[in-house]
Amino acid sequence: MTEKLIKSVERVKNHGEVFTPKRIVNLMLNQPEITAKIDNLSATFLEPSAGEGAFLVEILKQKIRIANDQSCNIKEFDTNALIALSTLYGIEYLEDNVEMLVMNMITTFIEEYTKIVIQQYKGQVNKKVAKSAKVIINANMAQGDTLKRVSSDGKPIIFSEWKTVSGRKWNVQRTEYTFDAIVNGDAPNDNVQGYLKGKSEQLDLFSIDDDQIVDDENVTQYLPVKWVDIYQQRVG
Ligand SMILES: C[S@@+](CC[C@H](N)C(=O)[O-])C[C@H]1O[C@@H](n2cnc3c(N)ncnc32)[C@H](O)[C@@H]1O
Repeated sequence: MTEKLIKSVERVKNHGEVFTPKRIVNLMLNQPEITAKIDNLSATFLEPSAGEGAFLVEILKQKIRIANDQSCNIKEFDTNALIALSTLYGIEYLEDNVEMLVMNMITTFIEEYTKIVIQQYKGQVNKKVAKSAKVIINANMAQGDTLKRVSSDGKPIIFSEWKTVSGRKWNVQRTEYTFDAIVNGDAPNDNVQGYLKGKSEQLDLFSIDDDQIVDDENVTQYLPVKWVDIYQQRVG
């Protein structure tokens, strides 16, 4: 089946919207520096003009395989699959593309996760994992303008960091940062360059200081929970 790479001439003119063919995506992801990052379960990726998620979807598939390689049992795989997912971020300007992006990420996660649970572990899909995956995807895929760093409502784009609690491998702490703080933070210059050029590039997104955590009464303060309980969105 031929891939549809262009939706309309107007959209190409107005938004530079040309989707990357899957063959090219895989060719690009197959570079040694990128595969090394994909193999690192906690390495973060940002697709800054994500379209419908051409790169993120393929990275997700590969990262879920890595999550499985690093798991000894189904409980560990449940957690590792969510850790893998939590490292993927996207920003897209157009509403219909964001809807497709979110749907593609959810569908891919559920399909790849289910395949491994059934075929390898002869187990059952954990509904908590599926519900937590949806919360992560909705938090990590933003509709907005990457260059202006604002959401569609004009407010700053906010991303969540999902960090395993030190010494407690099943637990995660969710912390919110503005995208502005992330870009202006300690992220290595090379990576910031990559983002400005609009490449899909691995960023060490959250290598920033604690004082750059969003400090605003409107920002939710999340309690540490088990990875599979992220869907509860427990706040302090
Ligand atoms: C060349 S397409 C690439 C889409 C996807 N990364 C891919 O490879 O298939 C560029 C995408 O960036 C979006 N876009 C354009 N300007 C943007 C901006 N300032 N912020 C975020 N997204 C933007 C467009 O709507 C379009 O979907």
